[in-house]
Amino acid sequence: MTPRLADRLLRAGADVLTLGNHVWRRREIAPYLESSDRIVRPANLSTKAPGRGLVVVEAEDGTPIAVANVQGSLFMNTPVSPFEVLEPLVEEARSRARIVVIDFHGEATSEKVAAARLLDGRVTAVIGTHTHVQTNDARVQPGGTAAITDAGMTGPHDSVIGVKAELAIERMRTGMPVRFEPAGGGVRIEGVLVECDAEGRALSCEPVRVPVP
Ligand SMILES: [Fe+2]
Repeated sequence: MTPRLADRLLRAGADVLTLGNHVWRRREIAPYLESSDRIVRPANLSTKAPGRGLVVVEAEDGTPIAVANVQGSLFMNTPVSPFEVLEPLVEEARSRARIVVIDFHGEATSEKVAAARLLDGRVTAVIGTHTHVQTNDARVQPGGTAAITDAGMTGPHDSVIGVKAELAIERMRTGMPVRFEPAGGGVRIEGVLVECDAEGRALSCEPVRVPVP
């Protein structure tokens, strides 16, 4: 993410942006993270890293909504376990908003399912991201927390998770460095639509999968 891209996404109608393991790929995002209250990076990075893992924004009707971001630790280079920070993070979020959305950016399905269960009844939604492949498990858990293990990818699906297939395959076949380029075909908007009541209890959780003509 760069400041220019973040501005474009926010201008296009996004209310909050969440990040993940590529947060420091472009250094110039660091001051932006410090100054914007509409972008979060994983809360469980170095305590000395710029930015924040939790923001509270207002919905169109003025309802406060807390959005927090954590990064998984299985198969990822993550300095602090997400389970060290999740509960204090949720406590802080709940002190500021009834509706709380957690983006759990992780590789392993087990961590994301466990986090959703851990937080069932305490947050509105635990939405998994990172794999770029939408999972078939959108649900509302018994305690009223919506969950999906991975919301999928908004981007070109005629690809290897967004990258031109031949380039990704070449890197895998040869083990040599290959410069990745974004693919172009089969663009889809993917995500999840969660409805909730005023207390922040989820009422429904439906996957979104819309082809872009
Ligand atoms: Fe990621």
